Amino acid sequence: MSLPVRRTILGLSGSLRRGSFNTMLLREAAGVLSEQTRIEIGSIRGIPLYDGDVECQQGIPESVVALKNRIVAADALLISTPEYNHSIPGVLKNAIDWLSRPPSDIPRVFGGRPVAIMGASITKRGTLLAQAAWLPIFFRLGGVPWFGDQLAISLTGNPFDAEGHLVDEMIRWRLESFVKGFAAFIAEQRRYCLHA
Ligand code: FNR
Repeated sequence: MSLPVRRTILGLSGSLRRGSFNTMLLREAAGVLSEQTRIEIGSIRGIPLYDGDVECQQGIPESVVALKNRIVAADALLISTPEYNHSIPGVLKNAIDWLSRPPSDIPRVFGGRPVAIMGASITKRGTLLAQAAWLPIFFRLGGVPWFGDQLAISLTGNPFDAEGHLVDEMIRWRLESFVKGFAAFIAEQRRYCLHA
């Protein structure tokens, strides 16, 4: 009898704010899945601003190496992105830029790795512009974006309570369906991937 395969999704929030709705969304997502696939929450906190001189003189910062290792150990990436000025948040882009150094390491870190993007923001369209803006970046990095569903949460209806839990049942249902759909996609991808 073969043992059940365990999958790990590494979740990254694009907001450093303590009360970040995107981090809350990620935490709620982590509670959705069964034992077979689990969501671990990583962080971009501590990653310095990208500086080519630092890279040349000191190499890749430890915080970046540690996050790279977490991505490599995971089967997939789940990004929870805010939208800033109709686009992506600079703090997460900065982290991704560091994670893409040196370029020779990109295939190991991002290549063939399923990526799902979700997000929460204050406008009615709830991060749709930011989500679209992430696509060319993951295309460049060789990730495999999942297009099976879309989760762009508008914060206008106040879907979280004071403890950071989702209280809007429709959004909870959409989150569950999104995360389960992504987990199924990962399992399907890995079935065809010889090294998985
Ligand atoms: C925003 N916000 C925002 N929201 C949006 O829907 N479209 C936008 O273009 C912007 N632009 C923007 C720029 C900057 C610099 C900030 C700080 C904020 C509001 C944003 O959706 C809101 O602050 C969210 O709560 C941010 O996500 P976290 O931090 O709660 O995860």
